[in-house]
Amino acid sequence: MAKRPEQPGDSTRAVHAGQRGAPESDAITTPIYQTATYWFRDSAELKAFQEGKLERDEYGRYGNPTWRAAERKLAELENGDEAVLFASGMCAATTAFLALLPRGGHMVVTSECYRRTRQFIDEYLVKMDIETTVIEPADPKKLADALRDDTVLFFTESPTNPYLRVIDVAEAARVCHARGAKVVLDSTFATPVNHRALDDGADLVLHSATKYLGGHNDLMAGAAVGPKEIIGELRKAVGILGGVTDANTAYLLLRGMKTLGVRMARHNENALAIARWLEAHPRIRRVWYPGLESHPDHDVASRTLAGFGGVVTFELDADLDGTTRFIDACQIPYLAPSLGGVESLIEMPAIMSFWDRTPEERTALGMTDSLVRFSVGIEDTADLIADLDQALRA
Ligand SMILES: Cc1ncc(COP(=O)(O)O)c(C=O)c1O
Repeated sequence: MAKRPEQPGDSTRAVHAGQRGAPESDAITTPIYQTATYWFRDSAELKAFQEGKLERDEYGRYGNPTWRAAERKLAELENGDEAVLFASGMCAATTAFLALLPRGGHMVVTSECYRRTRQFIDEYLVKMDIETTVIEPADPKKLADALRDDTVLFFTESPTNPYLRVIDVAEAARVCHARGAKVVLDSTFATPVNHRALDDGADLVLHSATKYLGGHNDLMAGAAVGPKEIIGELRKAVGILGGVTDANTAYLLLRGMKTLGVRMARHNENALAIARWLEAHPRIRRVWYPGLESHPDHDVASRTLAGFGGVVTFELDADLDGTTRFIDACQIPYLAPSLGGVESLIEMPAIMSFWDRTPEERTALGMTDSLVRFSVGIEDTADLIADLDQALRA
């Protein structure tokens, strides 16, 4: 496991970061500032604000004290200068691309990536003449070969979805920075508890906060964390594009993040136990989990991550019908899209996230009909294993 420098632990940060240092009031919790706008005492105050002599809120699309507390907490958790919230993880990604890429710029992306992010790149960024080179994840040599003099950024998830490939971020940053390109990392699957990507050299970290950061399957939000200048660009862009979050969501996110340390410890522990159990099961053809020695990136993951995460991907020794029967027989995990919440969720790409692709298209993506993605929740390990056991018998 990656060693962490001497700093407050994950749970101490998760509970306290961003709140005690800059209180909006003396309340232990941050209030929900349910307001769309802010008033000025007189025109002199307005003028001082416009001239940059006074820092304060102006209008709901540009800032809110409840968001700010959540942004500070996340920035501290990621060891970043600043963070900015968005209405969803997709909004964080689309805003970041629009803010950072010039017309006609070149970017490198990894082939395994949330399909809506790829769709945005393929269907919308092309309208700005953005050129994209797609590479296989986790191969610094392929990355070096794909970089050009006009490459603006390298975008990847780590771990990726669904095969949980782990990028050596320090190596990717070394290769990219030598060519003047930025590394933008979607760290949704890792969270700052399992990987502090900025410490490893990433220039910007993105999150679907809908997943582990929120952690309770009850909110939609996105976030970006990084240096002040880059976050300033993104804050300006979201203030124009308008995909901001709201105070209620920011409050739920703030509350969710307080338990990130304990939740991630449990997700990591449960998922590793389940991955090991599945790997030994005769009805399972293959398991992808970075904590298993059989995973192609086990060495990188062991060196760079503090935990292997809560998602386990596996293939049953069954056809589409058999796999569907298994899914339907599961009693604890919900059949639902998404991941990262306290409730276990299970999904079959063939009938869910990739249902609209033909079997041939899925095969081209290396996706068989018996592929299952299990977002392991924080239930008791023994109960989850007993449930998988009875469903596999069924
Ligand atoms: C890795 C990753 N990034 C981004 C997103 C998009 O996030 P959201 O659903 O919050 O828009 C998802 C959603 O599933 C995801 O899995």
